[in-house]
Parts: sequence; C-alpha cells; structure tokens
Amino acid sequence: MAELKNDLLLRALLREKVERTPLWIMRQAGRYLPEYREVRAQAGDFMSLCRNAELACEVTMQPLRRYKLDAAILFSDILTVPDAMGLGLYFAAGEGPKFERPLRTAADIKKLVLPDVADELGYVFNAVRTIRRELDGQVPLIGFAGSPWTVGTYMVEGGSSREFSHIKGLAAEDPAALSTLLDTVATTTTDYLNAQIAAGAQAVMIFDTWGAALERDDYRRFSLASMQKIVDGLTRENEGRRVPVTLFTKGAGPMLADMVGTGCDALGVDWTTTLSQAREYVQDKVALQGNLDPATLRESHEAIRQGVADTLESYGTGPGHVFNLGHGITPDIDPDNLGVLVDAVHELSPQYHS
Ligand code: CP3
Repeated sequence: MAELKNDLLLRALLREKVERTPLWIMRQAGRYLPEYREVRAQAGDFMSLCRNAELACEVTMQPLRRYKLDAAILFSDILTVPDAMGLGLYFAAGEGPKFERPLRTAADIKKLVLPDVADELGYVFNAVRTIRRELDGQVPLIGFAGSPWTVGTYMVEGGSSREFSHIKGLAAEDPAALSTLLDTVATTTTDYLNAQIAAGAQAVMIFDTWGAALERDDYRRFSLASMQKIVDGLTRENEGRRVPVTLFTKGAGPMLADMVGTGCDALGVDWTTTLSQAREYVQDKVALQGNLDPATLRESHEAIRQGVADTLESYGTGPGHVFNLGHGITPDIDPDNLGVLVDAVHELSPQYHS
C-alpha cells in the first residue's frame, strides 16, 4: 500500500500537532458538482452508482481534483445497512429514500436477521479498495455508517420524517423492541465498519443526524448507547496506525459532553454550538470537526472568507480541529464558492498552529 503523503487529518483527529487545519466537506461528492450529476445520470440511479466500484471511485475523486482537500470520503450511503437487512431501499424521484418493507411492529423487528455483511455489502468494500488504489496515498480515506438510532428512524418510518411518530411511539410503548432493533443494527454496523477498515478505510465516522430529536435521557439510552456498542467493537488500529473514530450527532449541543465518554477520538459539531463552547463541553479530551453553516456558501466571497475566519477563531489555537461544514453541502451551491472556502482555510489556519 502506498505511503500516506498527507496525514494532516489523521493527526488532527488524534489531537497531534499540525502545520495548518485540515479540511474536508460533508457530502463533498454530490449534486452541486456538474461532473457528479453527469456520472449519476450515467449510472441511472443512486444505488446503481453506489454498487459500481469504478463509478463510486470516480465520484469520490471528483472533489479532490477541484479542491485542496485533506481527505476523501467513501461514496455510499448510511441506508445500505438496512437495505442489506432486506428492507428494500429505493429512492423515489424528489422524495428522498424509502423502504418497501418498513418495520412497524415488534413482530417485524423479531423477524429481522443479521445479514452476512461480506455477502450483502461486498460492493462497498470493493469500492473502498478501488478508491484506496486510485488515491495512491494522496490523502486518507474516511469510511462511514449511520448511527443505529438514525438508521432506525428510516427503518421504522419507512423514509424521511419530521416528527418520528412511529419510532417515538415504539420507544414509549415497547422500548425493549426498540432496543432489540438498535442492537441488531449496531452489531451489523460494527461488522460493516470493521470490514471497511480491513478494506482500507483509514478513519471512520458515524452520522447521527437525528439523535437530537430525542430528549437527553432517551438520547443516552437509545442513540448514544448504541453508538457506544459500535465504538467498543471497532478495530482501532490497522496498517500500523490508529484508525480514528468520529461521532456526529447533529444538534448535540450540551450532549457533546456525554459523547466524550464513548472513547471516540473526535466529535462533529454543527453550527448551533460555537466551537469555543464545544471545546468547553469536551474539555479538549477529543478533537472537534466543523462547523460552518452550509448556508454561508450561498453568500458573497467576502462573507465566506469571514465565516472561515470566525470558525477558526472560535476554535482558537492548538491542535484538534478539523475544518468542515456543520452539515452536508447542499445541491444549490456554486462550486466556485467552495473553492473560496478551501483557499481561506489554507491561508488563514496556519497562524493557529505554532
Ligand atoms: O459525504 C459524502 O460525500 C459521502 C457520501 C454520503 C452520502 N450520504 C451520499 C448521498 C454520506 C456520508 C451520506 C450520509 C447520509 N445519508 C446521511 C447522514 C448525513 C446527513 O447528511 O445527515 C443521511 C441521513 C442519509 C440518507 C439519505 N441519503 C438521504 C436523506 C438522501 C436524500 C437526500 C436528498 O437531498 O435527496 C440520500 C441520498 C444521497 N446520499 C445523495 C448523496 C450524494 C443524493 C442522491 C442523488 O444523487 O440523488
């Protein structure tokens, strides 16, 4: 395997000294890039793109050709896991993800079987190997999965949701059934992430997009506990290096303090918490990743530079910051505006590392 030429991300995630703040962008491969839309059209639909290792590799590489980014992220989706469990994932035009067979009752949950990850998700590990070969050590590759709670919301609601009425109903009426579901997803996700690491993922991230829809006690009981199970079972070293683990609960706020105890290396932060406040919550025990509001990328070049400056200043000096947005980049963004952001991080961040 080619030697890693740029390991800023891996060092920053472990709070080691760096010369400047590394950066990558959530959803950096995506619809805001015309070259992505072209390959996506060629593939036919989103899942066909995910299942084709060559095309998944191509769209993973696209943002790295345009911008000086410090990481690649595997092109895939968090919902490949429930798809592998037999729920039948599909993307209805303009409606986001949906399942043919959502889980509505305790009986549906009992019938769930642990999938053979190597069989059902082999296409993901092929993509990881293909991307690593193509990267040739340029930057590290991030693997990822969804948190059991977040993935569970889609499994029980049958698709995207605002109110989470079915899964919250299940939490109230049959919490044991919900725990069974979350355990099953956690076990599968642990195997899934370990297989990504074995295939070449050099850092992993768990996306908990909907954890903050829960009140704090329920967050701890359902979302955080199931992420803890995954962290406990992860391979933490591979190819002679530590494999850093990042947890990202969008909107976590003060719950960031609870998340440190999982033994993760880093936490993602969205824009509703300042990085200086987040740093207080975590007492510098873990690295922080974030947190510019993606909406800033719709503003002027000057406003984008100012947003970058404010984000760096809010974290302040010292190691342990990975620059990112506070959530994924949206499809309406002008790709040139992301270039302004990337250049500003390169230019303005060295002064925070002496
Ligand atoms: O960051 C990256 O570049 C890696 C790829 C990635 C995708 N999805 C590709 C994708 C990652 C890390 C995800 C994670 C994901 N998927 C999350 C958690 C992170 C978050 O954004 O909160 C969630 C909740 C999902 C579920 C999901 N997948 C939704 C809700 C959608 C539809 C979104 C929409 O705007 O239509 C997807 C589809 C999806 N996953 C797309 C991409 C690039 C768009 C599909 C397309 O090309 O039509």
